[in-house]
Amino acid sequence: MLDCKYSSIRTHVAKQLDRELEGQEVTLAGWVGKRRDHGGLIFIDLRDRTGIVQLTFDPEIGSAFALAEAVRPEWVVEVTGTVRLRPEDAVNPHIPTGEIEVIVSQLSVLNISKTPPFEIEDGIDTDDAVRMKWRFLDIRRPEVSKILKLRSRVTAAFRNSLSDKGFIEVETPILTKSTPEGARDFIVPARQNPGKFYALPQSPQLFKQLTMIGGLERYFQIARCFRDEDLRADRQPEFTQVDLEMSFVTQDDVMNLTEDVLAEVMKVVDYDLPQPLRRITYAEAMNTYGCDRPDTRFDLLLQDISDWASTTSFKVFAQAPSNGGVVKAICAKGAGDWSRSKYDALNKKAIDAGAAGLAWMAFPTDAAGADDIVAQIKSPIAKFFTAEELEALKANTGAEAGDALFFAACERDLANEVLGIIRLELADMLEIPREGFDPLWVVDFPLFMRDEEGDRWAANHHPFTRPFDEHLGNIEKDPASVLSYSYDLILNGYEIGGGTLRIHDADLQLRVLAQLGHELEQAREEFGFLLDALSYGAPPHGGIALGLDRLIMILAGRDSIRDVIAFPKTSSGADLMTEAPSEVTLKQLKETHLRIA
Ligand code: AMO
Ligand code: AMP
Repeated sequence: MLDCKYSSIRTHVAKQLDRELEGQEVTLAGWVGKRRDHGGLIFIDLRDRTGIVQLTFDPEIGSAFALAEAVRPEWVVEVTGTVRLRPEDAVNPHIPTGEIEVIVSQLSVLNISKTPPFEIEDGIDTDDAVRMKWRFLDIRRPEVSKILKLRSRVTAAFRNSLSDKGFIEVETPILTKSTPEGARDFIVPARQNPGKFYALPQSPQLFKQLTMIGGLERYFQIARCFRDEDLRADRQPEFTQVDLEMSFVTQDDVMNLTEDVLAEVMKVVDYDLPQPLRRITYAEAMNTYGCDRPDTRFDLLLQDISDWASTTSFKVFAQAPSNGGVVKAICAKGAGDWSRSKYDALNKKAIDAGAAGLAWMAFPTDAAGADDIVAQIKSPIAKFFTAEELEALKANTGAEAGDALFFAACERDLANEVLGIIRLELADMLEIPREGFDPLWVVDFPLFMRDEEGDRWAANHHPFTRPFDEHLGNIEKDPASVLSYSYDLILNGYEIGGGTLRIHDADLQLRVLAQLGHELEQAREEFGFLLDALSYGAPPHGGIALGLDRLIMILAGRDSIRDVIAFPKTSSGADLMTEAPSEVTLKQLKETHLRIA
């Protein structure tokens, strides 16, 4: 059996042991888990990479019993014994080997262990920091190793699927030049070139484009990427992309290929990907969900009620549309009977997100019988509207007894953004069940967006993204209106992938770079090699990168990518086990021509 080939110490691993082997002698090796002493017998759970099996030590059988009294958790042992069916009342239906036990005749200790800082079993509530400091022990816990095995199978499925489709796996440099993806670079001093630095790649973006210009036509890489940005549950400073690029393709080609590959990969978790996946535009996503990576497993949709609002006499509502803004609302079923403090908390959330406020109207169930509509409503703003206006609002939004309406009146982008945040908050507060997978594409992103300070244009994806052909004339005149050939893959509110068609023409690339503030000279300095390459027969090309960590996180039902990375970092970028980052010696500083300021 392959499970024991190359492991001549043993004849079997735990998962192979079942009732078929009754009476057979087996030799096993692994770690000592729980030990129980019972009426003259000692029971030990032996753990190996495939599972757990119960060892039974009987003082009447062999010489192992005395040694079994001495072994402690996490000692490494080798045992030989006979497989026996457990008595009926001792069968454990919770583990695959629960029907059998191994009556041990020989036990040898391969290594001893100090007492571990936490129990090596599933479901412990040990602090994350402790688990991470002792991650090598944490990985021994089945629920952790299970995820790493899932990750390995998913990665293999990607590799197989892409290789089958003629994609060539290429490794691109880690010590390289900046690849702008919107984050800060990690930099590495170059000892042999005083004062110069490599940057770690934020993605293989430029290199994969260069493989297209190099004629490979279909590239892929399971690529480690490095981004020095503020960490969140779905972000790590180093993470893995399934990165691919194709030549002579349209946007649909890349999306279809991605769906086919993902469909094969999702079979690992027995999920049938519904193909073709639904597509919505960026504009629709923002207008309907207030977010470009919407969790579409529940509604709470944003409604535009500007037309209604503009005819009312409530100034905040009437003025917003006439100033070029909007009034938008969310109707939350089941939020109408809350206490005031919950509405106030949401109002504060909206203000923290940049809104002037979050007006609200509740329709408490016990007020539903009132004749007068004003009496049916609990709200600080109901008094500003006529009964007719309120009736019309109810009809427009579909609000009923037991519901609540939440409003934002301001400029469109801000209203969408704020209500997008409130929408997620409402889903949590209403405990709306969010189960299963709901993948979709969000397409047609604007090429440019305002950078964080709001004073320049930044690339929405990256500077190499191709504008819509019909919008080329607007790049300088009206940058905000230019859309791009771009597609993000969204799953359950996470962006699990993003890609674009690329600019394959040096002049167009220069125009876009100029709009992003890289004047000719600077553009040549930073991207000279790309501009050169684009001038030597670059084919039309495009691609995508999937965030492997995020995908595995969702498949494993986790809510942090730390759980699916073997050796992750904390939110401040530290590895608690190795204690990286750490200081370097004076000699290293000197050799790399650095001084700490
Ligand atoms: P993008 O920046 O969208 O595109 O990245 C692609 C995918 O990588 C994942 N991702 C991350 N995962 C964990 N931690 C992070 N810090 C992190 N940052 C990104 C996301 C994201 O969708 N070169 C382009 C792709 C292309 O155009 O082909 C790129 O890197 O799931
Ligand atoms: P005011 O009349 O200014 O006290 O506002 C009444 C309610 O409307 C309060 O709950 C505010 O939070 C809310 N509010 C104020 N400005 C806005 C706005 N631009 N959009 C939505 N709600 C607002």
